Amino acid sequence: MSSTKLKVAVVGCGGVSENHIVSINDYDDADLVALVDTNADRLKELSNRYNCRFYTDYIEMIKCEKVDVIHIATPHFLHKEMIINAVKLGCHVFVEKPLALNYDEAQEINDCLRGRSEKVMVCFQNRYRPSIKMIKRIIETKELGELISISGVVTWHRTKEYYTKSDWRGKWVTEGGGVLINQAIHTLDLMQWFGGKIEGIKGHFDTRLLQDVIEVEDTAEATIRFSNGATGVFYATNCNKTNTDVRLELTFENGILYTIHNQLLQLTNGETTVLLNEDVVKGEKKYWGNQHQTIIQQFYNCLINNTEVDISLEDGSVSLEMIKGIYLSCKTKRYYAMTYMKDLFNNAD
Ligand SMILES: NC(=O)c1ccc[n+]([C@@H]2O[C@H](COP(=O)([O-])OP(=O)(O)OC[C@H]3O[C@@H](n4cnc5c(N)ncnc54)[C@H](O)[C@@H]3O)[C@@H](O)[C@H]2O)c1
Repeated sequence: MSSTKLKVAVVGCGGVSENHIVSINDYDDADLVALVDTNADRLKELSNRYNCRFYTDYIEMIKCEKVDVIHIATPHFLHKEMIINAVKLGCHVFVEKPLALNYDEAQEINDCLRGRSEKVMVCFQNRYRPSIKMIKRIIETKELGELISISGVVTWHRTKEYYTKSDWRGKWVTEGGGVLINQAIHTLDLMQWFGGKIEGIKGHFDTRLLQDVIEVEDTAEATIRFSNGATGVFYATNCNKTNTDVRLELTFENGILYTIHNQLLQLTNGETTVLLNEDVVKGEKKYWGNQHQTIIQQFYNCLINNTEVDISLEDGSVSLEMIKGIYLSCKTKRYYAMTYMKDLFNNAD
């Protein structure tokens, strides 16, 4: 990478796009040169506000602007095609979660781009929250002994209007799922990041309050068997009346860590200690997690220093496979075995 500033564009100027735009503008060695959206009104309003050029076609934009990086913040069904095309045109890609519409598409991306030098990173910004980083450190240092179990609970609120005013949400072909792929995927990602390799996952999904509105699930649960012997229990719904903060609880040999609202607490020998109070960054929706700026800086640092990205295509695919496992196991009533475990067994002598 040359010493000049990174030339960056954002594709998709909807709800989450300003988290990207503001973060790009905050990075000294990056210039936001263009925005892309098929909705001309929104596009013009944002490009005026942020003083950059605008396009309705991302391929034309990449060819004209010769950008180094694109951020993809479009509906899920467009991610695969956009990632592959952008990389083949020489761009590094920062893609909003989920990496793709489903695990099979994620594998297609992986297969198609294996060996390329352009970098792709998936936006799981919650991994950069101070409380989450502290949990990860306590797991790795074994300060509380071995990890025994993890629970993750997501109780959020999505109205009928949230779905009816969108042309892509709530449908299998455009969103790829419901609460699992859109809202709770962050929590599934954290659970696998904390727990390590997953041997099997078995779950259930259903549409409880929104069955006349959406095709996809609004509620799901799962049990996870990690290969180190730990277990995970997971529950997610969009049927709550409010967006409650995600609750995580990790039980270790010598204590329990749990998150409640913006606090990380530790329970050891009957005593509770507050380990951390997290601040909410202005402009971020609290329940999204507030680390877009941190993760984008981290990605750009990797580009400038030519180092490995934190959340690669493979890493960003695991939560999608967990979702596939929940869907399939609900039908088969059998545990779904993760592909990497099959690979491990296949490779064993
Ligand atoms: N990381 C997070 O916490 C977080 C939060 C919200 C959304 N997201 C993700 O961000 C992505 C976008 O979500 P959103 O809420 O902003 O959706 P949105 O519907 O508000 O915005 C999507 C935008 O993409 C545009 N678009 C559609 N087709 C296009 C095309 N061919 N070329 C260019 N633009 C096109 C639409 O016009 C729209 O403006 C999704 O993947 C979503 O899951 C992530």
